[in-house]
Amino acid sequence: MPFNKIILAEKDIPRQWYNLAADLPGPLHAPLGPDGQALKPAMLAKVFPMNIIEQEISTKRWIDIPEEVLKLLSLWRPAPLRRALALEKFLKTPAHIYYKDESVSPAGSHKPNSAVAQAWYNKKFGIKRLTTETGAGQWGSAIAFACNLIGLECKVYMVRISFDQKPMRKTMMQVWGAKCVASPSQDTASGREILKKTPHTPGSLGIAISEAVEDALSDESGSSRYCLGSVLNHVLLHQTIIGLEAKKQLKIAGEKGPDVVIGCVGGGSNFAGISFPFIYDKIHGKKIEIIPVEPTACPTLTKGPFTYDFGDTAGLTPLLAMYTLGHGFVPEPIHAGGLRYHGMAPLVSQAAVKGLVKPRSYDQIKCYESAMIWAKTEGAICAPETSHAIACAIDEAKKARQEGKKKVILFCYSGHGLMDLAGYEKFLSGKLTKYALPKHKLKKSLESIKGLPKIR
Ligand SMILES: Cc1ncc(COP(=O)(O)O)c(C=O)c1O
Repeated sequence: MPFNKIILAEKDIPRQWYNLAADLPGPLHAPLGPDGQALKPAMLAKVFPMNIIEQEISTKRWIDIPEEVLKLLSLWRPAPLRRALALEKFLKTPAHIYYKDESVSPAGSHKPNSAVAQAWYNKKFGIKRLTTETGAGQWGSAIAFACNLIGLECKVYMVRISFDQKPMRKTMMQVWGAKCVASPSQDTASGREILKKTPHTPGSLGIAISEAVEDALSDESGSSRYCLGSVLNHVLLHQTIIGLEAKKQLKIAGEKGPDVVIGCVGGGSNFAGISFPFIYDKIHGKKIEIIPVEPTACPTLTKGPFTYDFGDTAGLTPLLAMYTLGHGFVPEPIHAGGLRYHGMAPLVSQAAVKGLVKPRSYDQIKCYESAMIWAKTEGAICAPETSHAIACAIDEAKKARQEGKKKVILFCYSGHGLMDLAGYEKFLSGKLTKYALPKHKLKKSLESIKGLPKIR
């Protein structure tokens, strides 16, 4: 009898996070300060607590997970590894399709894996209040949940379009005691400036990051810090617990390992979580295809250049070496709100530059069609972001059928879509259209990186 799911015991939660920075071939391109010189850790001290900054710059391969963080993670971890038997049957594929179910967390996605760790490190450093941004609302609700658990105040700047599309995410944040405002807002100078120029803007993650950073920096008491739900090294590090658990579970399932690993990419954190422990294997000789999937509406890895750019719209963050569409990019209001970021995590970007991962982009119609197949076979309603990984897993399973190969496909089921039904409603009533970022729009948004340092 094949397994439906493999559930580890709490004692089997990994005790250490895996840091890909220790193993990526080639020099890592350090973040730069506003003067174009390498950033010094002290320059970040007003934005992040020093214990987080140490993780951000660490090149140690394994980093211990503090006991208290493990205790918090054990509220929902280990997450099940499930096998999509009904989808396999529907596709008539010889492939085995496994997915790591991160939708079981209290906030409904992978985001709490880093939220509880970040809230814990901030509290330990004596911080009392966190500010952050959120796209689809998954990160905002995850950090609201974590701050409530740990006893921190929390303010979330939520991208305007998602604020309107997903009002219940805001309610979740409020239930956990956080304050959530639509971004751009009147609460910050950068928000007011953008509203003056473009009063009807749908907002963007870049704008919301500018507002959250500005908010933390302007707290004169010094007890606020900013936190981010993706992109940065320490966030990706915290997510590696996903792939490390999956490795143990695949072994129990009797598989030699995955042939294909897939994750959707916004800023890169769930993809990093599922894939980095397997990139380690690939670097050490294993043959694994590793695929980050992004929307054609925001084709950062597939169409953007690899260069230095700001992480936010106003240029308050350090310059990061990454694939980018330009920090001036304002995405179309597609329904996968969490996949509309202009940049890509530097570690994921570097893995792409080295050919360790092979990015793809899919349009939203194909993704919703895949989400419908998923709901009708496996039963669950996935987040629109997650549907990108499912669409790719389906393509790979069909390819395995054509080739007659029993491949093992593993993907990250990054979240449920129960707060995203407005998107499904639009799809079902035929109101969604295919959309790929046109060349002229890409050219225009890339103007925002003119004059910034290039990667040598
Ligand atoms: C369910 C879900 N999956 C994926 C993402 C993309 O983020 P990341 O690339 O950091 O995993 C988001 C972001 O909000 C999300 O909510």
